[in-house]
Amino acid sequence: MLSWEDYHSDKLNQEPATAPIATRAPTAAAVATDVEPAATITEKNTNTGNSTKNAIGKAQSATAKIKPTADELKELTINAARIRVDDKAMINCRADLNQLVPFKYGWAWQKYLDGCANHWMPQEVNMTADIALWKSADGLSDDERRIIMRSLGYFSTADSLVANNLVLAVYRLITNPECRQYLLRQAFEEAIHTHSYQYCIESLGMDEGEVFNMYREVPSVANKTSWSMEHTGAIADPNFTTGTTETDQELLRNLVGFYAVTEGIFFYCGFTQILSMGRRNKMTGVAEQFQYILRDESMHLNFGIDVINQIKAENPQLWSPKFQQEVTQMVLEGTELEVQYARDTMPRGVLGMNAAMMEEYLQFIANRRLVQLGLPEYYSGAQNPFPWMSEIMDLRKEKNFFETRVTEYQTGGALNWD
Ligand SMILES: [Fe+2]
Ligand SMILES: [Fe+2]
Repeated sequence: MLSWEDYHSDKLNQEPATAPIATRAPTAAAVATDVEPAATITEKNTNTGNSTKNAIGKAQSATAKIKPTADELKELTINAARIRVDDKAMINCRADLNQLVPFKYGWAWQKYLDGCANHWMPQEVNMTADIALWKSADGLSDDERRIIMRSLGYFSTADSLVANNLVLAVYRLITNPECRQYLLRQAFEEAIHTHSYQYCIESLGMDEGEVFNMYREVPSVANKTSWSMEHTGAIADPNFTTGTTETDQELLRNLVGFYAVTEGIFFYCGFTQILSMGRRNKMTGVAEQFQYILRDESMHLNFGIDVINQIKAENPQLWSPKFQQEVTQMVLEGTELEVQYARDTMPRGVLGMNAAMMEEYLQFIANRRLVQLGLPEYYSGAQNPFPWMSEIMDLRKEKNFFETRVTEYQTGGALNWD
């Protein structure tokens, strides 16, 4: 196996292209890390001098046969000139998507950098106090327990839905490399969020089946999940392509449904409840995890809004009065479902809040989403009863918050390649 030094020396350049493959028959120790039993490999290496040669011969003749088909050749040469910024577009773009630069959308690249700068992992959070409180007979009220269970039940599935929508539906339809770079970062963050919920569920010793299956069993959770899934169905079809007003609008519907409503409204009741709990010094580990997730989510939301607005700017015919009405309706439906969730999770006042206050907060949030999308507010006069939520999401504070952490991540220089 190559050592770290090999990668930084001239060795690789000095060796002819074919020789290293033949001479790099794996040692038993090296193979041991590659799953196959060492004994099997040793046997193969001693008995199969000829078969090694055959395999290399096959590889050489296969590579000699590589000849791009007419279609592939067309694909490779159609944009043979270097990419110009003006060639790039959010959707239906024919410029080479394998070239990241020159950037057209600096905001997308900046969000990718900001996302990386805020990297975190669930295991960094100390859950000891949470475990003691969760297991104590009288540490939490039934209403508080209900909120924790519902939140983990909804989010543990919702983040998987979002991740699936990103990688199986949205990614291939967004035809811009810097946006795709952010989508890849976002997809990893969604995996971390699902990991985080699993880490909480496991730490607290909850019934995993009950929590993970909640989206099928509890109506207020199931309704939100079902609404999101309805908006991924069409574009997740592998045969779906954009390019007509109808299909481009279908993609926009998906982006509004996932970024503005699922991540922009459906997450807010649960986040507010759990963060309020943390502010009261209860379940501080779970609350810290949610705090990190909320920071990620507010960036996902802002990225999605920027993408939608960019598509609108480049394709104004899509944003017809009828379609604007439809988008407004989607935001209102999302708000209604989240209000129902608030009522279900807070049948009484708890943690200094109640369903009526949450309803006003959600209306305030819905107004913001509408304005961000360039649409008029719907709930006139709705105020924010939880101004501390805005402070938590403040990006400048977010940066300071992360700077205070002592965690250091492994870098390339610290990895052992042997
Ligand atoms: Fe997430
Ligand atoms: Fe997200």
